[in-house]
Amino acid sequence: MTHPVVLVERPAEGVALVRINRPEARNALNMEVRKLIAQHLTEQADEATVRCIVLTGNDKAFAAGADIKEMSGLGSIEMLQRGTLKLWSTIAGCPKPVIAAVSGFALGGGCELAMTCDIIIAGESARFGQPEVKIGIIPGGGGTQRLTRAVGKFKAMRYILTGDLFSAREAYEMGLVSELVPDAEVEKRAIDMAKQIAELPPLAIEMAKEAVLRGVDAALDTGLALETKAIQLLFSSQDQKEGMAAFIEKRKPKFTGK
Ligand code: CAA
Repeated sequence: MTHPVVLVERPAEGVALVRINRPEARNALNMEVRKLIAQHLTEQADEATVRCIVLTGNDKAFAAGADIKEMSGLGSIEMLQRGTLKLWSTIAGCPKPVIAAVSGFALGGGCELAMTCDIIIAGESARFGQPEVKIGIIPGGGGTQRLTRAVGKFKAMRYILTGDLFSAREAYEMGLVSELVPDAEVEKRAIDMAKQIAELPPLAIEMAKEAVLRGVDAALDTGLALETKAIQLLFSSQDQKEGMAAFIEKRKPKFTGK
C-alpha cells in the first residue's frame, strides 16, 4: 500500500518499512503524516507475516518536527482537537518492534518520533534536537519525558532549555542512539537488524518489548513480576519447546509464532 506522504515497503521477509515522504518539507509531521504513520504501524502490526518494522525518512531528514506552517495559526482548543497524544500513543504502543533508521534531521516531533521506537540506528551526520523553545513552545510529543528518561535530567535539560541540536555521536554517547553507522548504511543496517529480529520467535519478541516498556515506568518489583509472568506464559508456546529442543539437538530452530 502506498501513499504520497507515507509509503510502506517490504524490503525483506518479515520486515515492513514505513517511510515518511515529504522531502519538500524535510518530512515535517503534518496531521496527515502522523495519522498515516499511526495507521500503517497498526496495520503492519496486525499483519501476521510482519515481525519487525523499520520507520525511516530520507537522507536529509528523518523528520524536522511538527509542521510549523500547519500549526502556526492554531489556538489551544484547535491544538486539543488535533488529538495528537492519542496518535503518539498508538505509535509508541505498536506491539511489534520498531526500528528508527535516522538520517539527516530528527528535530522536535521528529526526535520524539524516533524516541517512540524501540531501537534507533543513526547515520554519522544525523542531527537530533528539541528546538521547540526557539519558536515559543515546548516539546509536545513526549520530548520532555522520553528524552529525560533516555539520557537523564541534566543532559535533557541542557538540550531542551537551549534548543541546541546535537550530533548523532553525542546522541550515541548519551544512550539515545542504539547504533551509529556510516550515513550510506543506515537503512541497510536497520533492515538487517529487522531481519535478524524477524527470524526470532515472535511471541518472545513481543513479550520482551512489553516487559521493557511497561517495566521502565513501574516500580522494580512490579516490572519483575511482569517479566516473571511473561516468561512463565512463554513456556506454553510451541516456540519455547522448539527453541530449546533445537539447542539440545544442535540444529537450527523453526519458529512458527505459536
Ligand atoms: N515545519 C514546516 N516546514 C518545514 C519544517 C517544519 N518543521 N522544517 C522544514 N520545513 C520546510 C521549510 O520551511 C522549507 O520550505 P520552503 O522550501 O517552502 O521554504 C523546506 O522545508 C526546507 O527547509 P529549509 O530550507 O529550512 O532546509 P535546511 O536544510 O536549510 O534546514 C532544518 C533544515 C534545520 C530542519 C530547518 O528547516 C529547521 O530548522 N526546521 C524547523 C525545525 C524545528 O523547529 N522543529 C520543531 C518543530 S515544533 C515541534 O516539533 C513541536 C512538537 O514537538 C509537537
